[in-house]
Order: sequence, then C-alpha cells, then structure tokens
Amino acid sequence: MFLAKLLYLLFLCVLTQSQKDYVDISGPGLQPVEIIMPARYFFINFTHINAQTYTPELNKKLIVEIEGKSSANKHCRVWVNKLDRKDGTFIVRYKIYETCFDLSIYVHYDRKDLGKSPFKFKGPIYPDQCDCPEKEFENWFINYGCTQNHEQIIKDLKPFHNLNMKEEVQKIIQKYHQPESTSFCHYVIKENKLYRNCYGKHVGFNMFSDNVLLSLMRKVKVPDMELIINLGDWPLVHKRDKPLPVFSWCGSDETYDIVMPTYDLTESTLENMGRVTLDTLSVQSGAELVWEKREPRAVWRGRDSRAERLKLVDIARANPDLFNVSLTNFFFFRDKEAQYGPKQPHISFFKFFDFKYQINVDGTVAAYRMPYLLTGGGLVLKQNSPYYEHFYKQLTAWKHFVPVARDLSDLVDRVKWARENDEKAREIAMNAKNFGNEHLLPQHIICYHAALFWEWSKRVRSEVDIEESMTQVQQPKSACDCKFPKSHNHEDL
Ligand SMILES: *[C@@H]1O[C@H](CO)[C@@H](O)[C@H](O)[C@H]1NC(C)=O
Ligand SMILES: *[C@@H]1O[C@H](CO)[C@@H](O)[C@H](O)[C@H]1NC(C)=O
Repeated sequence: MFLAKLLYLLFLCVLTQSQKDYVDISGPGLQPVEIIMPARYFFINFTHINAQTYTPELNKKLIVEIEGKSSANKHCRVWVNKLDRKDGTFIVRYKIYETCFDLSIYVHYDRKDLGKSPFKFKGPIYPDQCDCPEKEFENWFINYGCTQNHEQIIKDLKPFHNLNMKEEVQKIIQKYHQPESTSFCHYVIKENKLYRNCYGKHVGFNMFSDNVLLSLMRKVKVPDMELIINLGDWPLVHKRDKPLPVFSWCGSDETYDIVMPTYDLTESTLENMGRVTLDTLSVQSGAELVWEKREPRAVWRGRDSRAERLKLVDIARANPDLFNVSLTNFFFFRDKEAQYGPKQPHISFFKFFDFKYQINVDGTVAAYRMPYLLTGGGLVLKQNSPYYEHFYKQLTAWKHFVPVARDLSDLVDRVKWARENDEKAREIAMNAKNFGNEHLLPQHIICYHAALFWEWSKRVRSEVDIEESMTQVQQPKSACDCKFPKSHNHEDL
C-alpha cells in the first residue's frame, strides 16, 4: 500500500516535470487594456534555472508571438522584442502601432505553450499615442498598478499646503527669472488640456516636460493644476530662502525643489523601443559576461564636468590594475586637456558591464546614469553627494551600492574591498538589480509622475486659470478611434 502510494507520487513528479511547471510569466504587459505604455513588457522566469545553469539553448527555444486584429479586421501591427537576461529569466517587450482587438500572446518553448499561454485579450488595446483618457483618475491609478505614499514625495511636498498658486508663480518669476542662467515653464492643466508660458533663454528642454505631461493626459484625465517646472539641471530654491514650489529633475540637500524622475529616465520610458536604446529594460540584457567572467576593475567614462572627475583620472593612472577610466570630452577644464587627455572615444554603455565595478561620480549635478548602472547589475561605487534623483532616498549604502567619499580619498580602498569580498560585492550588485526592477522600470516612472502630480494637485486651493499669454501644447496627431469602450475583462487573465 505504502509502496503503491510512493510509486504514484513518483509518477506524478515525473509527469509534472516539464518546463511548463517551472515557469512564471507575469508583468504589466499582461494587462494591456489597463496598462498602456509606449512599450508594454512582461517577464518570463524559468524558476529552476539560474545564471550558473543557463545555456543559450533556452533563448533559442523560447518563442514569443503576439497577434491581433486591427479595426479594419486585418493583422494589427505589433513589434515584439525579447531580452535575454542570461539567468533563466527574460523580459518581453512589445509595441503596438494601432488599436488592436482579440490580442493573443503566445509564449512557446520547444513549440509548446508555456504557463498559461496563450494569453488572450478582447481589447481594445490602445497604442500609447492614442488620446483616449480614462475619466476617473483614482480608478486609473489603481488599475495601472500605481501606489501612493512615496517617501520622497511626502518629504518634498511637506512645506506646501493650501497654496495660492497665483501668488507663488509671481514670487517664483520675480526671484528666479534670470534669462541668462535659469529657464523654467509655468504649466497649466485644465480640462485635460495643456498650456504653458516659458521663461529664460534655453527652453528647449520643455520638450521633456511636455512629453510626460501629455503622455499622462492621454491615459487619464489629470486633475486641473498648475505648476512650475525648472528646465535646468541645478535645483533652484535654496533652503536659506523661503520654500517656493519648483519642480526639478535633480534635488539637493540644500534646496526645496520638488523632485521628478530625470528627463533622461523619463525619456527612456516614453521612447522605449523608439528613439532611445538605453533604458532600464534593455540594460538588463546588454551585458555580455556573467559576473565571474567580468574584469575585477572599476570602469568609468564621462566628460570633465566636475573637478573630481579629473581626480578620478589621476587615481586610475596611479592604479591601472584596479581601474579603466577615461575622459571622453573636455569642456569645463579645456586648459587641462594636455594633462588629463587625450580624450578617448565613447564606449557603449553595455561595455561597462565587461567590468565588475562601475563608478558613479557627479557631473554638474547627480550623474543621471545611476538607474542604468543599478539595473544593469553592476557593483556601483557611488560618490557621496548632496545631489539626488527621485529614488536615491530608497537606496541603502552597502546594500545597493558601495559609498565613496566625496573627495574620492577612499576609492582605491573600496575597489580593493570589492576584490577581496567578491561574494558580498556580487550580492550588492544583485540587490541593485532587484531594486531597479522594483522601482525604476517604465511603469514605475509613469506612476511616480502620476502620484506626484496627483498629490500636488491637492495642495493648491486657488482656481486654475489659463493665462492669456499661454500657448496650448497639443497632443501629437494620431488616428485613434476612442469610441470603443474598454472592457475590463479580467477573466482573460
Ligand atoms: C525567478 O523565480 C525564482 C523562484 O521563484 C526566484 O527565486 C527568482 O528571484 C526569480 N527571478 C527573477 C529575476 O524574478
Ligand atoms: C579599457 O577598456 C576599454 C573598453 O573595454 C578597452 O578597449 C581598453 O583596452 C581598456 N584599457 C586598459 C588600459 O585596460
């Protein structure tokens, strides 16, 4: 009796030991009706395989196909991109170019369906360029998978309550409108239309703030609000002065500026599978070498935008066995080019991961490459800095990165530490990668903006009016038909 039971159990084990049962397929790209993104994405995890047991065979046998119908009942245009993380997990991205119906996502391994494949959705599945906003912000926010209560948002908005923005805007213009050195835009969102007045000489970067606001407004009716967005890298509102609400891409310990994700990270979200090739998804499959095969040296490339970057060159020259460092451009210290040059050609960002350790030294402000270094799975040696991006407060030294003194005096010791503690170094690199996957992917960046602007809209009590001198910023043209009601057919999942 006992033996029979045992045999039966064994039989069951053998029966279920197919790839199918070892795979976990999940992610926002499997809610394509609710979660509209420039490139939708989801993850495939062969849970019994890891970086040590991975073989390229896995990638060859894994096929993802996505098909659907256009409104004209033809094939709808979809572009699929599979990213191999070389650890038994994959990221699948897909971009939809027109509204699709009856979308099917097939995940095949060795020509057999994996997990719950095929995933089927009736639709309509809107491409990101469709201007078909949901009416209820809060519903949208939840369905999109966003969360509130980000520590940085709470801290940044703390000084601002019950504001009369008419007064605040005037004060900001008076104090910070110095056409030669600062540039900012005063934005108004009213009835989900966008208007702005910009100040300063260099307002070209308003393309980035326009893009993220328009992108949100295509997805959901954004609450009426007005805000001022600083287009420069330097935060503006010094703590010795009274707090004024200015939104900036970079924060600092000495300023009150309200921090948004950087234009760089935001653009890589909005141009995913488009104009931008380096983003927090692509960087995860860019590395050629597994950790063990990487060179145990610290790598850095960049321009001469801060004195410590020159110092870094000195340190590297004195310790060639520990570093591979070069300046790629001279602008701020042209007179020092003979000493610190010649400048070297750029290398692909993915090449950084031929090395185990990546150095992050401030440029003019925080170095905006941080999200890609972390998510790319390198051990980041980060210079201490008063400057920060929207997520730095969630990072812990020695857990997600190795801290380095502001004057780089301990940098050599840090590299030596990493060499002598390889297991620990690898673990920190893994933590960084996990952090990136939990906080820095496109969905998180869109959500952070949504959470920030929603919370901000509650802090303003004054009426939102469009000033006469304002320009309306139009949504990009697209041939979308919003008449199809979205069916929230969760049973499809
Ligand atoms: C894949 O699944 C395994 C087992 O559940 C888990 O330990 C691992 O962290 C997952 N990997 C990724 C990258 O999500
Ligand atoms: C530094 O790295 C680059 C890019 O991998 C490589 O071409 C170069 O030879 C390296 N230099 C040294 C001195 O190791």
